[in-house]
Amino acid sequence: MVKYINYKMTNSSYFVIFFIALSISSCKSKTDNLQSYGGTYLKDLYKGDFKIGAALNAGQILGRDSLALPLIPREFNTITPENIMKCEVIHPEWNRYNFDLSDKIVDLSAKNKMFLVGHTLIWHSQLSPFVRRIKSPDSLKMFMKEHISTITSRYKGKINGWDVVNEALEEDGTMRKSIFYNLLGDDYIVEAFRLAQAADPKCELYYNDYNIEQPKKRAGAIEIIKKIQKAGVRIDGVGIQGHWSIRGLPFKDIEESIKEFSALGIKVMFTELDITVLPNPWDLRGADVNQNFESKPEMNPYPKSLPDSVQVALANQYGTLFELFLKYKDNVDRVTFWGVADGNSWLNGWPIRGRTNYPLLFDRNYKPKPAYYRVSSLKKLNKGA
Ligand code: XIL
Repeated sequence: MVKYINYKMTNSSYFVIFFIALSISSCKSKTDNLQSYGGTYLKDLYKGDFKIGAALNAGQILGRDSLALPLIPREFNTITPENIMKCEVIHPEWNRYNFDLSDKIVDLSAKNKMFLVGHTLIWHSQLSPFVRRIKSPDSLKMFMKEHISTITSRYKGKINGWDVVNEALEEDGTMRKSIFYNLLGDDYIVEAFRLAQAADPKCELYYNDYNIEQPKKRAGAIEIIKKIQKAGVRIDGVGIQGHWSIRGLPFKDIEESIKEFSALGIKVMFTELDITVLPNPWDLRGADVNQNFESKPEMNPYPKSLPDSVQVALANQYGTLFELFLKYKDNVDRVTFWGVADGNSWLNGWPIRGRTNYPLLFDRNYKPKPAYYRVSSLKKLNKGA
């Protein structure tokens, strides 16, 4: 039948059919978008409440991800580089910086008027080999001064907020025995904030960590924040990373944390939000990037697609979480997702490599998931209220 029709068609009818098909498909994608989003996007829906953001990978920063390209400025008003401002990328050797990609994200945020968060200045992970080799306190101090001052002053007035220190705490709230702590003691944190403030006095400065909604670790974070404040150095906000699991979010602890952190006079941010739908090895909680486990089929239950029941459960968890954020919208300044769409999430590779995870609001085709609609609907229902 197909062959017969083709045989009978002339060249001009091919063109007519081609153009009809083209206009149907472009019409369809336009109406799809309108129906999907109701013409209003996340950043606009939450405009009076808090910023909504995403972490971007190198391909997205370079504009090579054609589906992410229009979606990012449409949905988000703040962005964070996922990896390219980390020491191992931006400062690979003592006397060499690599600003290529970070200059690009600065341009991207300026072009789209998005609030840019720098991530991160002082962190024990993803350090360049030359830093790992440092053995003396003086050399490490020299590195900190050089690293923080050079990067922060280069982007003075362009990067709006910096994760100055990342993940300085152990789970029990004591200081993590990192290279920084081991060589400099806990004063290194105040020093890092002092250096960042000196290089860009107007930029916001944050302490960022995972599991700091948990009581013991939270107490440790509060101690750090108070210490910075007592030294007369500025800290503007605390970032609760928010790497949580569909098996249960710590809502009570999150609520307590918002209250306790804002009582210190600083902004509260959820900086790396994602909700894993996969089983985790043992009772692993948090985001220690150095943990990795062997893959087994039962640890990767949804290699092809996410069952509807799990989609709904994920939407419910996101819904409850955003209700809580809205309850504290006067204290919550920003909610940033750790990735744009499921396919780019680091949780496909951590803590077990090669799995298929679904932790974000957009699927692998960058289409909004039920969780997206749930989060949007909270504001759509409240509109005009
Ligand atoms: C992760 C990135 O998403 C991965 O691509 C990379 O391989 C490891 O780091 N806490 C942080 C982030 O502060 O920088 C980490 O990002 C996730 C945990």
